[in-house]
Amino acid sequence: MMIRQNVELAPYTTFGVPAKARFFAEPESLDELSAILNDPATASVPRLVLGGGSNILFTQDFDGLVIRPRMREIELEDENDEFRFVRVGAGADWSETVADFVARDWPGLENLSLVPGSVGGAAVQNIGAYGLEVAERIVEIQCLDPESGRVVELGVDECDYAYRTSAFKREKKSLIVLSVLFALPKRFEPRVSYKELAAAFGDRQPRSAAEVAEAVIAIRKRKLPDPRELGSAGSFFKNPVVTRVKMNFLLDDDPRLVAYPLAGGRAKLAAGWLIEAVGMKGMREGNAGVYPKNALVLVNCGGATGAEVLALAQKIQSAVKKRFGVQLEPEPVIV
Ligand code: EPU
Repeated sequence: MMIRQNVELAPYTTFGVPAKARFFAEPESLDELSAILNDPATASVPRLVLGGGSNILFTQDFDGLVIRPRMREIELEDENDEFRFVRVGAGADWSETVADFVARDWPGLENLSLVPGSVGGAAVQNIGAYGLEVAERIVEIQCLDPESGRVVELGVDECDYAYRTSAFKREKKSLIVLSVLFALPKRFEPRVSYKELAAAFGDRQPRSAAEVAEAVIAIRKRKLPDPRELGSAGSFFKNPVVTRVKMNFLLDDDPRLVAYPLAGGRAKLAAGWLIEAVGMKGMREGNAGVYPKNALVLVNCGGATGAEVLALAQKIQSAVKKRFGVQLEPEPVIV
C-alpha cells in the first residue's frame, strides 16, 4: 500500500538522527497525494511534509503522517524575450535542479548551487546564499489545500517572503506545495558581490552561470560538511537581526563583530562569529558537535540523537545571550 507504517526517518534527513514516523508516504503525483489524504486510516492524525530533510531536526518520534512529495517534473512552460518560465515539481532535488539549469545554460539560480533539499522546501523556507534568495526567481507556487481538496495557485506576492521565511511557515502552513514556477532571466547577469564570491573572481567577471556555480560549489565545500559524510542541517541558527543602536553598542565592545547594516535602522549580525566569540567553535557534547570549520553548523558526529543536538544548541543560545544579549533563533524546524 502507499502508506507505510513505523518508518525510520534518519535516512530521509541530513542530520541523520533516529526518529520514527507512525505513517509515511511518498506520493509521485497529485492523484497519489489526494488518495493519501483521503485515506481514513490517517485522516485524523497530525501531518508533516518532509522535503529533502535538510532543514529539520527530529528530537522524538512523529506520531502522525509524514508526507514526502516525489513529484519531480521539470517543464519549460513559456518564454518571452526576457525570461524562461520553468515549472518544477516540489519533490525534485534542489541542487540537481540547479545543476540541470546550469548545464542547459539557463542562468538565474546558479548562486544557489549545492544547497541541499527539495524544490518545495526551497520555496517554503526561502533559501538564500551568496547574494540571492530564491523568492527573487519565483513567479507562482501551486499547492494542494488539504482542507478543501483544491489546487490553489499563489502568486509570489501572496507568499510574504522574507529572510528564511514565508507564509508557508505560518498561516499557510497546511498547504502542500506541488510545484514552483520560476522566472529565469535569459540574460546572464552575474551576481558576485558577496565577499567570498567576489574574491574568487578578483577583477574578472564570470562569463557563464557555470563559472559562478563552480565558484559557489568550491566555497560551500570549504565551509559546509557534505551531509553524506557528516550529518547537519547547514546553518543551525539564523543570523539575528538587531537594531543599529544595539549593533553599535556591540561594536564598541568588540570592533571585530561581523555586522551588516539593513534598511530601517536595523542590522544583521553573523551568528557564526558570535558563536566563535564565545569559544564554542569545534566544541563537542556527547555525539553532537559544532563544526570546526564553521561555528554556525551543528553536526551529528555519529550516533547523535536529536535531543543531544538540541541540548548543544540551547547551550550555545544561552552563552551568546549571556555574553552579547542576543537571542539566536534556530533555522531548522524542530520536531
Ligand atoms: N564567521 C565566523 N566564524 C565562523 C563562521 C562564520 O567568524 O565560525 C563569520 C565569517 O567570517 C563571516 C561571517 O561570519 O564574516 C558570515 O559567514 P558566511 O559568509 O559563511 O555566511 P553565514 O552568515 O555564516 C549565511 C547563510 C548560509 C549561506 C551563506 C552564504 C544563514 C543562517 N546562513 O551564512 O546558508 O550559505 O550565508 O550566503 O543565513 C543555511 O541557511 O543553511 C546556509 C548554509
